[in-house]
Amino acid sequence: MVDHICFDVEKCELHLLDQRFLPEREEYFICRSVNDIIEALQTMVVRGAPAIGVTAAWGCVLALLDANGSSWMPHLEAALENLANARPTAINLRWAVARMRACQQQLKNKGNVDHDALLSAFLAEAATIQREDVEICRAIGHHGGALLHDGDTVLTHCNAGALATAGYGTALGVVRGAVDAGKHICVIADETRPFLQGARLTAWELQKDHIPVTVACDNACALLMGKGLVQCVVVGADRIAANGDTANKIGTCGVALLARHFNLPFYVAAPLSTIDLSTSDGSSIPIEQRPEREVTHVGQVRICPEGVPVYNYAFDVTPADYISGIVTEMGVLRYPYTTSIRAAFRAKTTMTPPAF
Ligand code: MRU
Repeated sequence: MVDHICFDVEKCELHLLDQRFLPEREEYFICRSVNDIIEALQTMVVRGAPAIGVTAAWGCVLALLDANGSSWMPHLEAALENLANARPTAINLRWAVARMRACQQQLKNKGNVDHDALLSAFLAEAATIQREDVEICRAIGHHGGALLHDGDTVLTHCNAGALATAGYGTALGVVRGAVDAGKHICVIADETRPFLQGARLTAWELQKDHIPVTVACDNACALLMGKGLVQCVVVGADRIAANGDTANKIGTCGVALLARHFNLPFYVAAPLSTIDLSTSDGSSIPIEQRPEREVTHVGQVRICPEGVPVYNYAFDVTPADYISGIVTEMGVLRYPYTTSIRAAFRAKTTMTPPAF
């Protein structure tokens, strides 16, 4: 995989592989200000919950650089608030901003919150968040890879791969973990209308890694399962409520219902940073609605009559009891998730869940 999130310390720029143009071309979008970061997040230059979090951490650095003069602190605070609200569903965005704010608070507690000291602290923390994300995905891959059998075909929805994280991936991390352990795994990538993360991104990164991948229309899922072509489903998550209800890309819940019908395991793979203990269940997860144009057009071509209203909900919520296990860096959590999630947070003593 290419480096897709790179901070240039000399130039103070974040270089993002522009996911809107994949697989056609590998072009970078350069962010020089926090507003560039917000634009990149909202237009899906970069997407996928953990990658959104890492990008937001670098966004805090650029927000601090943008904020100068005597009133830099209120300017910074306003910019961090805008950044945290750039997309509503993926909790990693708020989680990353909260972690950067915590590091500002630590300096305040020591009585040293000048601009230079905070910049050094922000640079170090953003780099740590990015590095840790890869390590966490590898741990997810290790735990989840053990759930797959040699010869399995895994169906996945959207892109929860290296591109959606700082590297390695969550759902695709599970696939990579199994492959790294010597198993032969094939992947079916749902195309994932309307943004086509499966057809464009999952297929692109698996092909680069020589992991066999077949793309299927979203509506082929029942047929493929009925034909016995799928042994297991693994998806990522944008936000997991305290009871295990999981928001992920629109269409995921339908895949989970089909997996239950065909008696197939349905796993969610996500870091603990995607679990929001302050949201008790899925009914209070905010669901992002995106521009109609993503549905009415394919590229520049309109496929829907002018004037017809459109639903473009970007996520849906899979009820916890449809989930066979949640694969985290702390191991595979099992139902009832209210208990297993709290135990996982307790076990990861170094990570206290930040308050949002
Ligand atoms: O709208 P997107 O592309 O940001 O949605 C991404 C997903 O739904 C992913 O499955 C999820 O963020 C997990 S990424 C490891």
